[in-house]
Amino acid sequence: MMTKTYPRSNDLQTVYLNAVVKDPSIVVGDFTVYNDFRSDPRLFEKNNVLYHYPINHERLIIGKFCSIACGAKFLFNCANHTLRSLSTYTFPLFYDDWELDKKDVASAWDHKGDITIGNDVWIGYEAVVMAGVHIGDGAIIGARAVVTKDVAPYAIVGGVPAKEIRKRFSPEVIKRLQAWRWWDWPVDKIRESLPFLTSGDLEGLSANLKAVQKS
Ligand SMILES: CC(C)(COP(=O)(O)OP(=O)(O)OC[C@H]1O[C@@H](n2cnc3c(N)ncnc32)[C@H](O)[C@@H]1OP(=O)(O)O)[C@@H](O)C(=O)NCCC(=O)NCCS
Repeated sequence: MMTKTYPRSNDLQTVYLNAVVKDPSIVVGDFTVYNDFRSDPRLFEKNNVLYHYPINHERLIIGKFCSIACGAKFLFNCANHTLRSLSTYTFPLFYDDWELDKKDVASAWDHKGDITIGNDVWIGYEAVVMAGVHIGDGAIIGARAVVTKDVAPYAIVGGVPAKEIRKRFSPEVIKRLQAWRWWDWPVDKIRESLPFLTSGDLEGLSANLKAVQKS
């Protein structure tokens, strides 16, 4: 759990997300950041996690070291008027007017489940992630993408609906990065590895992994 809110002094537009999220059904890993230059980024729960009501018991789970750009949205199930019905009008929601049983209110919408985001995922400006979607480690979601299906690890996706543009690395490199899970290393080892991580030096990172395994 991050103990401070702002990773950069004098930048009130960027927050460590798990320092500001209060809803227990939103779980965010350490170092994941959200930037918002229009609204207060501390209002992420209210402005970005939409149609997310306790009655559905759905979770938004975001891994470590993710970067979430301004206006990205997570659209939960209460937005999905049920397609089982012959009408999309949410009759069960207006139980008083239609003299219906209040306990059936959740039948007004379809249930697609949690949204889960891996580690080291970059979500672009105003992207929308739909209910039930899983985004793999290392993926990139393009600006204004609408993500309706699962995204493979280290895939770059874009468009409406989001389609794979390409993978970030070869299958061999992706396999190694997924096995190494650098985001779970002790913070001091990650700090030591920054020259390799930031320059794309896979062999340098591999050498540091050996040091992590020995420690
Ligand atoms: C998705 C993204 C990472 C791709 O970057 P890239 O690999 O350098 O992209 P390119 O410009 O080489 O484009 C590759 C292809 O993807 C398409 N593409 C790029 N971005 C796209 C997007 N957001 N939505 C749909 N298609 C996109 C391009 O049209 C191109 O298609 P083509 O191969 O048919 O010609 C980038 O375009 C993007 O959206 N970044 C997010 C930016 C952002 O939101 N920043 C917020 C601040 S953190």
